[in-house]
Amino acid sequence: MKEQISLLVTGAGGMGGVNFVRALREASVAVGRKIFIVGTEYNTFHAHFPELDVSVRTPAHSDPDFLKTLLKVVREYRPDFIHPSPSSEAKVISGALDEFTNLHVHSLLPSEDSIAPDKDVIFERLSSAGVSVPDTRRLADIEDVKRAFLELGSPLWLRPKRGAGARLSLRVDTAEQAELWIRLNVLQGRAKLDEFILQSYLPGRDLAFDSLWLHGRLVTSSARERLEYPFKHISLTGLTGTPSVARTISEEAVNSVGTEAVIRLDAEPNGFYSVDIKEDGAGKLFVTEVDGKWHTTAPLWGYACSKVSRDVLQNIAYDYLLLGLGEELSQIPQYDLYQEGLYLIRQMDSGVVLLDGKTGRSWRVV
Ligand SMILES: Nc1ncnc2c1ncn2[C@@H]1O[C@H](COP(=O)(O)OP(=O)(O)O)[C@@H](O)[C@H]1O
Ligand SMILES: [Mg+2]
Repeated sequence: MKEQISLLVTGAGGMGGVNFVRALREASVAVGRKIFIVGTEYNTFHAHFPELDVSVRTPAHSDPDFLKTLLKVVREYRPDFIHPSPSSEAKVISGALDEFTNLHVHSLLPSEDSIAPDKDVIFERLSSAGVSVPDTRRLADIEDVKRAFLELGSPLWLRPKRGAGARLSLRVDTAEQAELWIRLNVLQGRAKLDEFILQSYLPGRDLAFDSLWLHGRLVTSSARERLEYPFKHISLTGLTGTPSVARTISEEAVNSVGTEAVIRLDAEPNGFYSVDIKEDGAGKLFVTEVDGKWHTTAPLWGYACSKVSRDVLQNIAYDYLLLGLGEELSQIPQYDLYQEGLYLIRQMDSGVVLLDGKTGRSWRVV
């Protein structure tokens, strides 16, 4: 076991990156082990957020110089481990992983294909394997919109195949509404017609399953219900990507659907996988997304729960780092890593609060 760990976090200034770095700083104090963190970031404003030892600006992930810059950083600082925080960057790095491995950098990353897969690909993989996914129709022609309403009924959920945070998604009650939304977004250059899909609308609970895997084995996981999103009153759907209030749940059905979804996406899962699950009106679970990425708040849950419980095993960012470095983890539950009924409450400029729904006790953790 190395006394000091040095790591490279890319996209460190995004919310997920800040949460990840914060979680590791907490673990470092809890276990008395120094962690040296080099962070990279494209956005020079956001680069001020994470607590880094060294901060480096990188070009956007789509720039050919992105990888070159990272490899230069690796040669200079010799990190033991690389954690790409945004999916866009993780996908590029996973595709070029050999270049990092050759420089002796460890990682725990899903395959390139398992990171940010298209929603229609998810639908096909999962439905052919018998996992419940919302009925989905692709659009090759604007006439397909009417056909989808005839076949699936109303309302429907209109969404693009790519992107995150419910971007450009909308509940549509009629073919006219769907057509107008598509036409406007095509006209304003945000998406093409065939990039949209229509799915059955699921009105029930909005659930998330977060899981950590090592060479095909589920190491640990947690599940939660999203209850509120920031700025919900000024967004058309009320969904703005990452929740401002969520509550841990412990339900066998959710755990088993989440696990199954990951295995169907990736036959040998390795790294962190997020699953989004929505309920229909009768409480039946449907997987809307499975992705080899970290949900933004996954490391924040680990940070908050480990800080309050003083149990470093609950710090999932640290667990992931240890696994990636080839170190052993002591006994960790495969499911329900956090106690049921904990609320994580966050809002811009207001900090983060962990609340125990049973006792009413709360802790300001950030
Ligand atoms: N078929 C659906 N019906 C109703 N809401 C949906 C449906 N699919 C997704 N959603 C909502 O949109 C949110 C984002 O969808 P998700 O599948 O996670 O894709 P992404 O996060 O990539 O935008 C979900 O958390 C859920 O609240
Ligand atoms: Mg999602």
